Amino acid sequence: MTLVVSACGGGGGGGGAAGTAAAGCTVGVSWNNYQEERWAKWDEPAMKKAIEAGGGKYVSNDAKSSAETQASNVDNLISQGAKVVVILAQDGTAIKPAVAKSIQNGVPVIAYDRLIEDPKALYITFDNVLVGKLEAQAVFKAKPEGNYAIIKGNKADANADFLRSGMEQVIGDAVKSGKIKIVGETYTDNWDPSKAQTNMEQILTQNQNKVDAVLSENDGMAGGVIAALTAQGLAGKVPVSGQDGDKAALNRVALGTQTVDVWKDARLLGKTAGDAAVQLCKNSDPTKVSGTAQFKTPGGNSLSSILLTPNPITKDNLKDVLDAGWVTKADLCQGVPAGRASACG
Ligand code: BGC
Repeated sequence: MTLVVSACGGGGGGGGAAGTAAAGCTVGVSWNNYQEERWAKWDEPAMKKAIEAGGGKYVSNDAKSSAETQASNVDNLISQGAKVVVILAQDGTAIKPAVAKSIQNGVPVIAYDRLIEDPKALYITFDNVLVGKLEAQAVFKAKPEGNYAIIKGNKADANADFLRSGMEQVIGDAVKSGKIKIVGETYTDNWDPSKAQTNMEQILTQNQNKVDAVLSENDGMAGGVIAALTAQGLAGKVPVSGQDGDKAALNRVALGTQTVDVWKDARLLGKTAGDAAVQLCKNSDPTKVSGTAQFKTPGGNSLSSILLTPNPITKDNLKDVLDAGWVTKADLCQGVPAGRASACG
């Protein structure tokens, strides 16, 4: 089904296409926005570095959360000479015609991090079902019964449902048996932290604050959720999940207001996509890119893909993100009282 490539090494290292510079390999990258810290801080520099190390040229644009802008941005990258296009899709369905057109015109497409249901695209991401599973495992361990709220990401991003299905693997039986009651479940437009906060406030109000655990799909939204909990004196009492390894979220894990941060080393994802793009410049067939396997999509397609493995970070293994050079001790441990998290002393 899915090939899981273990995430070793991380970040550093040399170019993918050593020796043979891919002359004229312009890679166009269409970002949907830079709302989460990871995109500008980790994904983009790693991807750019890998493309340049392979002799290619990096060009990019930002759709600023507009699916329409993103479609024209893809055309724009091609008119700037892109031989390969990498897309972080704002809306995985709305972008399909632009993707089909690009591939038909001989410009291969990498669906970066988020699925685009086109069997000819190359899909490079983390195992998102596993991300949801790891989020739920940590929260379920802390609170195996009670009232759960589920704060999902953007509906037009397939990751929202992949994560949710991973959560179901963990809590499904307890929901069926009635041990866990889902008292609120919402998608969140654009993964917007302030919308997540508003949704969480409403769920708290509707349930007279009787919420025992929150499955938030990412760190940005966990920030909004924890702000809502703080206002009711519940932060640190109600377990909350997240993903991305945002600096603020890792600090919350150390402080004890966030239970788990599923860390995806986005440096490795960016490098993997950059290396793959350089290979596609030479041979546009995604099945020939090294390390790919077929991924069966919810829409019944099969895509060449590379899936990396995420790592759950709790207060017990914060050292891992320090050792990886992902966060400084000053940021991780800001305001953390002595004895609360071993990585902070
Ligand atoms: C990514 C997450 C990210 C979210 C919002 C998802 O598709 O997998 O890492 O937090 O988008 O940008």
